[in-house]
Amino acid sequence: MARVPVIGGNWKMHLDLTEAVALATDVRNRLGSTRGAEVILFPPFPFLKTIADRVEGSSIQVGGQDLHFEKSGAFTGAVTATMLKSVGCSHVLVGHSERRSVFGDTDAVVGRKLLAALDAGLKPVLCIGELLEERKGNQTFQVVARQLQSAIASIPVGRLADLVLAYEPVWAIGTGLTASPEQAQEVHAYIRQKLADLHGASFATATRIQYGGSVKGSNAAGLFTQPDIDGMLVGGASLKGEEFAQIVKARA
Ligand code: PGA
Repeated sequence: MARVPVIGGNWKMHLDLTEAVALATDVRNRLGSTRGAEVILFPPFPFLKTIADRVEGSSIQVGGQDLHFEKSGAFTGAVTATMLKSVGCSHVLVGHSERRSVFGDTDAVVGRKLLAALDAGLKPVLCIGELLEERKGNQTFQVVARQLQSAIASIPVGRLADLVLAYEPVWAIGTGLTASPEQAQEVHAYIRQKLADLHGASFATATRIQYGGSVKGSNAAGLFTQPDIDGMLVGGASLKGEEFAQIVKARA
């Protein structure tokens, strides 16, 4: 079995519309006919429709950075899965560590968001990962197991075919401290075992697990040598078209 690599560019809260269009255009020029890897851009909400239109007809896909779990209602500032779909999103990030730590998304909220994405036919990228103090306290496996279990254990495996996981050690996000390929592989292998425990070996074998946390053009190839690293979720380096392309080409 060969898992198709999947590389996401999480633009977070950066760029204005002009800059976002320029970046999407650059990415499209460099990667718009990529074969052998999936490329997904996660622009800020206000730019989604414009960016989706900009990459239409290319191999590049677009996703939201977050969603609300309700279908509609008085939730000022929030967006639904259906809204994301209606502006051209195929994917959505769920449980990014910044949503967990800055905005207070609990495991329960993350689980509801995951279900809302699936209900709307959006492909979720579920982010999990340990804090620095959890790693120092040898709790990494425990933490990712808990996050995984609480998000997907009760969902029938037949609904999870499009799930992508992103292992993002929180201490590596935006810090310049990348996990070494071996450190990342150790956790990826553990996550895959956990997927097998929860939903069976064939699900575990088929599900792609991205690594995220200070991925750069210079370290992507090393990470990609690991057997259980199936892609990257890239923050800072995805804001530079050339470097993002270098990361994708490290594997595509
Ligand atoms: P970073 O962010 O590449 O800037 O560390 C990764 C992420 O948060 O997805």
